[in-house]
Amino acid sequence: IFIGIDIGTTSVKAIAVDGKGKIEKSLSRSLPLHTPKPGWAQQNPQDWWEAVVDILSEFLKSGHRIAAISVSGQMHSLVALNDRDEPVYPSILWCDQRTEKQCRELTDKLGGEKAVIESFGNPILTGFTLPKLLWLEENEPERFSTIVRWMLPKDYITYRLTGRSTIDYSDASGTSALTLEGEFSTRALELCNVDQSSNPELVNSGEIIGPVLEGTISGLKGVPVVAGGADNASAAFGCGVERPGDTMVSLGTSGTVVAVTKNAVPDTTGGIHLFRHVSGESFYHMAVILSATNSLNWFRERFASETSLGEIETIVSSSPAGSNGIVFLPYLNGERTPHRDPNARGTLFGFSSFHSRGDVFRSIYEGVAFALREGADLIQRLGTSIERVRIVGGGSRSDTWCQIVADNLGRDVWSPRVDEGAAYGSARLAAMAMGVESDSWIKLDRYFMPDNERKEVYDAIFDIYRKLYSSLKENFM
Ligand code: XUL
Repeated sequence: IFIGIDIGTTSVKAIAVDGKGKIEKSLSRSLPLHTPKPGWAQQNPQDWWEAVVDILSEFLKSGHRIAAISVSGQMHSLVALNDRDEPVYPSILWCDQRTEKQCRELTDKLGGEKAVIESFGNPILTGFTLPKLLWLEENEPERFSTIVRWMLPKDYITYRLTGRSTIDYSDASGTSALTLEGEFSTRALELCNVDQSSNPELVNSGEIIGPVLEGTISGLKGVPVVAGGADNASAAFGCGVERPGDTMVSLGTSGTVVAVTKNAVPDTTGGIHLFRHVSGESFYHMAVILSATNSLNWFRERFASETSLGEIETIVSSSPAGSNGIVFLPYLNGERTPHRDPNARGTLFGFSSFHSRGDVFRSIYEGVAFALREGADLIQRLGTSIERVRIVGGGSRSDTWCQIVADNLGRDVWSPRVDEGAAYGSARLAAMAMGVESDSWIKLDRYFMPDNERKEVYDAIFDIYRKLYSSLKENFM
């Protein structure tokens, strides 16, 4: 049995997978999230560790013979340890917004945003790791001075299991400290006064980090721990998105378009992320929209709590492509791609007394698809193709939503039979490291073929959708 673990933000999730890719058991433990101030988001690394210990012990108790373990996790979140291996401060998470000042400082000192994007592949964003180190240095100097190791969440777990502090390239590329050439930038880390000896050691995903140490979890001693990857990369790998052109569209609470590329061309506008993938020497371009199913859930909870998702599906499919002219902008929590605008807001535009509930709900499905399409268009403009689209996440259970995405992208879209996110990608990495063939794990289920006539309808409305943001952006408060 191969164990794939994902250190998420709301929970730790783990699955036990057999050599043929079949999930034998799936476990999760929810995690507390601390927001001591507005815009702050922290977790206690000990909570991740306890969840992992609890889960692994349960796998062992149910008689599973564990062949290898691999861990993926939330990107960017910082773990800093002292010489007794205790966190000097809670983990400051990827969604924490406290580092605006540090981002500006670092960007200026590294020669401005364009130079930063050209060196690192992305702008320095508030969520990323490097500005968190600088924040600690500036705001918690005493604690900062005791740091002997810094790492990311999944690497904290493998460190506790194996005693080796490592980071794989996919996660390292989200720190703002790894150059596009694949080395830690001494200059960037020096700007934060980080002692280079505290850096984790760079490894390839799928490489064996070491055996589980004696005295960590009884019954696991000696089991190989395999380097995992960033959650987005691992989730893509888990649904077979690994060769250039392979694309994953995720309709989760937030939404992403992840397209694999050999072509490490950064987006100089900073709207599209460029990170390293877990497979081979490749990269991926990624668009992130902050409210995908969140848009639908918000609307349903506030205005239609008695209407089930099944009923919504029925009324949406009875409204025509284009929602009879209603256009929805899904910017409930601001937007990352492409606008990088925290002030953008959700907008429901163009309704009249003629419109039905189905039209309104359909416009929400469509607005989310437009946002993903806008990301996909920008990715293609960077020279990365969008092919072999796999659609995943809670929203992909809706056939209508998948079809709207297929029509808008003008691409065939498949949903994989197993939709277990990053944990499944980690289990695949663990199996591969043990020499198990895992291409056959990827099985596709439902298929959606784009329709040209509907695409034409959407093309016209997509144009309005884009103009709406431009004309409204000055007025969002
Ligand atoms: C990616 C990002 C998030 C986290 C969530 O840039 O910030 O997707 O990886 O875990």
